[in-house]
Amino acid sequence: MPSTILVAGGAGFVGSNLALRLRDHYPEARVLAVDSLKRRGSEWNVPRLAAAGVEFRHADIRRPDDLVFPGLRFDLLVDCSAEPAVLAAYETGPPAVIDTNLNGTVNLLEVARRDGADVVFLSTSRVYPIDSLDAIAVEEGTTRFAIAPVQTLPGVGPAGIGEDFPLAGARSLYGATKLACELLLTEYAAMYGLRTIVNRCGVITGPWQMGKVDQGVFALWMAHHYFNRPLAYIGYGGTGKQVRDLVAIGELCDLVLRQIDGIATLPRRAYNVGGGLASSLSLAEATALCEEITGNRVEIARVPENRPSDVRLYITDNARVAAETEWSPRASPRETLVAIFDWIRENERLVAPLWS
Ligand SMILES: NC(=O)c1ccc[n+]([C@@H]2O[C@H](COP(=O)([O-])OP(=O)(O)OC[C@H]3O[C@@H](n4cnc5c(N)ncnc54)[C@H](O)[C@@H]3O)[C@@H](O)[C@H]2O)c1
Repeated sequence: MPSTILVAGGAGFVGSNLALRLRDHYPEARVLAVDSLKRRGSEWNVPRLAAAGVEFRHADIRRPDDLVFPGLRFDLLVDCSAEPAVLAAYETGPPAVIDTNLNGTVNLLEVARRDGADVVFLSTSRVYPIDSLDAIAVEEGTTRFAIAPVQTLPGVGPAGIGEDFPLAGARSLYGATKLACELLLTEYAAMYGLRTIVNRCGVITGPWQMGKVDQGVFALWMAHHYFNRPLAYIGYGGTGKQVRDLVAIGELCDLVLRQIDGIATLPRRAYNVGGGLASSLSLAEATALCEEITGNRVEIARVPENRPSDVRLYITDNARVAAETEWSPRASPRETLVAIFDWIRENERLVAPLWS
């Protein structure tokens, strides 16, 4: 049972939710969240963390000096700090993304090495190459693209994309930095005996996600319906048929806690983790649900051209993680969207500036 826990990116969407759950799950532990508060809205999580007894320190993981905490020795490090938007590198250039997503994680791994801490790393489905994902045979239905029954690539089938999906090819700079971190985690585990947990997550969503056009699409979709703001179906003909699976943040936290509790015996390998086929939505289907939940209809533009690094479809096959941890997601997309709606309604004045 960990006694001193560091959550990097601890004011972000995943980090804050995990820090709060770790606080509950290990009541005797000291939980320290660090974050540079770069993501707009992350600052709203700082009082929530404090109220729950999670300590917060402003720190930039790119600076090793920010990760020195005299007198503290961590036995668990959870890395949720990142520039998580696939498009970010197109705006900032590669070094900014590499500095946070790769060099920052190396700095955290050095903390783990120094202290002998277990490491939880939030990786991404975007480690899988774009051309291969777009080579998945699909059938076009009335509201979505679906995985066709016959496939030529390994690692993909009706249930989604598994860990045996090919890894060769370009995957976006975001995906590349994440895969590089996975490789380094393997080396640190081999060299220093660090115990590691790696989850390649599809879309994670839920309350306290500050969704924006390039990251957090389902929170963005619900928020724009709530506040009557326009949206756009971008790419793949502009029909809104592109598909993602979504895992509810609470269910992801359930899994991570289960993995930490079982870390001594858990195999050291990366797991694909997501909502799975039963919790997948096309944008058009998300629109229908958001309209039903909010009672609002918003203007949706249609942009046929694809955005760089986008993919038509991603659905997680959870078979491996389900078999090895006995975890499987249960929330329906509707339940998850309702939870986001309730959160926005309860915090309307606080969060409105994000989406107006
Ligand atoms: N949300 C998803 O759908 C999703 C899917 C797959 C993987 N992930 C991964 O999960 C992790 C958490 O993502 P999230 O959705 O919570 O994103 P987020 O943007 O809400 O959280 C990331 C946090 O990291 C902080 N941060 C950024 N640069 C930093 C730096 N240099 N130093 C310190 N803090 C810094 C940000 O301020 C933010 O609070 C990321 O590693 C992301 O790649 C997220």
